[in-house]
Amino acid sequence: MTSQDQSALKQAVAQAAVQEIRSTLRRDTVLGVGSGSTVNLFIEALAPLRDEFAGAVASSTETERRLQAVGIEVLDLNQTGALSVYVDGADEINPDFAMIKGGGAALTREKIVAACSSRFICIADRSKWVSQLGGFPLPIEVIPMARSYVARQMVNLGFSPVYRQGVVTDNGNQIIDLYDQLIDNARDLETRINQIAGVVTNGLFAHRGADLLLLGTPDGVQRLS
Ligand code: 5RP
Repeated sequence: MTSQDQSALKQAVAQAAVQEIRSTLRRDTVLGVGSGSTVNLFIEALAPLRDEFAGAVASSTETERRLQAVGIEVLDLNQTGALSVYVDGADEINPDFAMIKGGGAALTREKIVAACSSRFICIADRSKWVSQLGGFPLPIEVIPMARSYVARQMVNLGFSPVYRQGVVTDNGNQIIDLYDQLIDNARDLETRINQIAGVVTNGLFAHRGADLLLLGTPDGVQRLS
């Protein structure tokens, strides 16, 4: 797939997500909005509807900036309470709708907003659909002083951790990526990694996976649930 083809599929799922949520929007609706290039297209497609809902909770400072740029009010999750819907992309998604996320280093805030949302709509192009997670490096957000410790623990578990040089998350932390390990039990691994001291969270979204997948394919957008 060329990058042009992939962009067209991302555009198609962004539009499809707006169609999906349009009829549910009320004056007091607050949307959860994820991060990444697919979500950026969703924000553009959502902009004309800005007056039909209250605003959005952003999963990254970049998303916050983009929402504000198109006139969508950004709200504080501590003030909004639970959200009805969260729209976000993924780096990989499997048939159980478990995902690897965090290619853009926004995994922790994404996981928080997803946890607060009744419905998670994943928007992804066909390249993200996999039978087994792990082809894409699995990110772990770590407290900076714990980086080497966490990396050693991951080596002990048989992983190949690589420090994502030069990246500081919105929370002031660092990222370790785990390479070359297909994942058999995503829920179990999500829990095990999160128990290591110094780990903020990891990019497995298995306990809280997607509820609906809008998958962009050359034959159109598939609606999978
Ligand atoms: C950012 C994410 C993104 O959702 C994921 O990386 C997909 O991004 P894109 O839509 O650019 O392919 O998890 O932390």
